This record gives sequence, C-alpha cells and structure tokens, in this order.
Amino acid sequence: MNINWNTQLYCLIGNPIEKSLSPEIHNYIFNINNMNCIYMCFNVEDNDLHQVLDTFKILGIKGFNVTIPYKIHIMKYLDEIDEEARLLGAVNTVKYLDGKFIGYNTDGAGFVKSLIDSGIHIKDKKILVLGAGGGSHAISMKLAQSGAKKIIILNRTIEKSKKLAYNISNKFGDISVEYDDLKSFSQYTDVDIVVNCTSIGMYPDTDEVPIDISIFSNKTVVCDIIYKPIKTKFLKNAEKKNMKIIGGMDMLINQAILSQKIWFSVDKNIAINIDEIKGFLHYSVE
Ligand code: ATR
Repeated sequence: MNINWNTQLYCLIGNPIEKSLSPEIHNYIFNINNMNCIYMCFNVEDNDLHQVLDTFKILGIKGFNVTIPYKIHIMKYLDEIDEEARLLGAVNTVKYLDGKFIGYNTDGAGFVKSLIDSGIHIKDKKILVLGAGGGSHAISMKLAQSGAKKIIILNRTIEKSKKLAYNISNKFGDISVEYDDLKSFSQYTDVDIVVNCTSIGMYPDTDEVPIDISIFSNKTVVCDIIYKPIKTKFLKNAEKKNMKIIGGMDMLINQAILSQKIWFSVDKNIAINIDEIKGFLHYSVE
C-alpha cells in the first residue's frame, strides 16, 4: 500500500469496533483495484458522535460505514437519508456529496444478494426470521420488499416481534406477517427459508443454537447472519441434515462491496474475488 498526500481515508465508526473485518475487506478491494484509498476503524463514544461527523466534514472524508450501536442513532446527524435506509430503519453507509452527508443501507441488499448468488429466490417464499433487533429489522423489511409471500418473526421478547411484524404490515400491506415467541418455533415448520438474526451462537458462545433445526424439512434453506464463527453450530446442524446453508460472511462481503459502489458511483466495476476474500478472512475469524 502506497500512502501519499492524496490518499483518501474511508472508515468505520462504532463501539466496540474491535475485531471488525471491514478493514480487511475494504483495503483488499482498494488494493486489487489500485485505488489510492485506505480504510480504518474508529471507536467512537456516543457523546462524541456529532462532533466526529463535523470533523469528518472538515477533513473531507468522502465516505464511512456505521456499525453497532449507531446504525439508528446516526440518522439524526445526517443531512439526507436515502429511501431504502429510511424503509429499513437504519444506516450503515454514509457518503459525502456536495457538502452533505447522505445515509444509505447496504445490509439488507447485501443479505438478499447472498441468497440470490446461491440460487435462492425470495419471491413468493415463506420465511421464518429469528430475532427482532436491528439486523432482523433491516433484513425482514428487505425480504418483504423483495416479494416474500409470508414472514414470521420469532423473538425471545415478543413485544419486539409484534412491533416488527406491525412495521412490515404497515409498509407492505399485501404480505402475510405473523409473530410469536422464539420458543414456539415448532409450530412454524412449513417454511422455505429460516434466517437467524439473533446473536445466539456468536463467538464466544459457539455451542449455542437459536432453535432445533432438525424438525424442518431438508428442503428448507438455513441462513445465519453471524460470521464469527464462519459456520455456526446452527448451520453445521442444518448441513448435517443436507439442508442448503448460507453464512453471514457472504452478507458481510456483499454489504461492503455495495458500500463501495455507493462511494465510487454504482457503475464502477469493482473487481473482487469473493472466494479469495473469504479465504484470507477465514484466518482472521477462526
Ligand atoms: P442486532 O442489531 O445485531 O440485531 P440486537 O438489536 O441487540 O442486535 O438484537 C439481538 C437479537 O438477538 C434480539 O432479537 C435478541 O432478542 P431480545 O429482543 O429478546 O433481546 C436476540 N437474542 C440475543 N441473545 C439472546 C438469547 N440468549 N436468547 C434469545 N434471543 C437472544
């Protein structure tokens, strides 16, 4: 990497940002595309968020990503929010354009792309979503927008699944939406796709699973948005039953590529070999 006076800084802000894989992914893309850019992580305190954004403007930062816990909180400090980010209720990508910070969301589209790339189509599918937090909100809304026929939200805290189900119905009137407690999963086995959006099974609690996947048909596609570990126990259990599985690493890489397309214009052909990226990220995760 050749850093000089003209190197553009891109970054991630969040708290904690420790062990984020975003620098590896973005710097890899910059490198193989000969872009004079560098990507770094900044751990930002809640009280400093507004000031950090003002400083980014002064420094001429052209784009950055936002992670937990600021994906919603950041929205009030931005000059504009793109329609998709408004729909998904969270911002993970910010672009500086003509003196304004504009917020976007690439998490939902990144997840849907990981399904499409695996040959899974969402239109008219019945989908069981586990969890009702920020990740679940963006993904459920995007699945509804992508033509799912039915979405069932299961969450430990049932009030949150109810609220998310209400938000989906409110925006997408013609989709069938149900909600329930996570413990009631055995009543909902007639689904095409199951997506784990809870944090159950994430490092260091790698022996945990959100639900028993063995009661579903082996035609059910099983997804997990967790990428640490690369293959959660939930996915390993599904794989043992010959179910098709999709891990969180695909979504992570896709959302990063989509962020770059926003920063550097959608038409820019960003060369990337996803398998190569996954190969070296493997070492950072396991
Ligand atoms: P994110 O933004 O990554 O989605 P989040 O908003 O904190 O993170 O959501 C985490 C999700 O995992 C929630 O659905 C949470 O359930 P609650 O809403 O009941 O808190 C779920 N979750 C986390 N730990 C859990 C556990 N031990 N059992 C059941 N659900 C759990």
